[in-house]
Amino acid sequence: AAAPVLTVDGPGGAGKGTISRLVAERLGWHLLDSGALYRLVALAAAWHNIKLDNEDALEPLAANLDVVFVPGDEEARVYLDDEDVSAIIRTEQAGDRASVVAALPRVRTALLRRQRDFQKPPGLVADGRDMGTVVFPDAELKIFLTASAEERAKRRYLQLIEAGEDASLSSLLKEIQARDARDMQRSVAPLEPASDAIELDTTQLTIPEVVDRLMELLVQRG
Ligand code: C5P
Repeated sequence: AAAPVLTVDGPGGAGKGTISRLVAERLGWHLLDSGALYRLVALAAAWHNIKLDNEDALEPLAANLDVVFVPGDEEARVYLDDEDVSAIIRTEQAGDRASVVAALPRVRTALLRRQRDFQKPPGLVADGRDMGTVVFPDAELKIFLTASAEERAKRRYLQLIEAGEDASLSSLLKEIQARDARDMQRSVAPLEPASDAIELDTTQLTIPEVVDRLMELLVQRG
């Protein structure tokens, strides 16, 4: 049988990235950060002076991304064309640009096979927006993580302040709401829970609590 998959979908800032990484670590499974792929397409577009609405040029760019993920104790390091782009793809602006290219159907199709290649023994934790609905519809366990927009803005704010960066809570909230709207309203693979997903609201939960809950659910699924 194919290696088992746990999908973790939901809006930006719900804690998917951290939680997926910690669960993958506990299980010794592979990790797919699918959002990074969309961030990389947008970055590669900037490098090649390609506009974010130029689907004809973005499709081959997405299909041929030269990317390497190097897992570690913290967030994975990401290399594009051998250049370490880990920091630049994590900015708010990079996330925003990612959500623009992510609305293009042919870009999404171009990234499908690359994402499915991550499904290898002993298993995969896949983090994104459409992991349970489109990319891994047969996943063993599908989780849809949410948190209120206010809570997500607050978490992001604290992250930025901790990293020594400037941040404004009210503009972060506006950005989060704009990105949610773009992700939910697009016509291809909009952000929505799979019909068989378990929804988990993390507004009142700590990261270890969510990790434990996911581990319990996996054990229940056997
Ligand atoms: O998860 P992350 O914030 O890195 O994703 C950046 C953007 O990429 C999202 O706002 C969304 O538009 C897009 N995305 C997507 N499908 C995925 C993962 C990310 O459309 N599976």
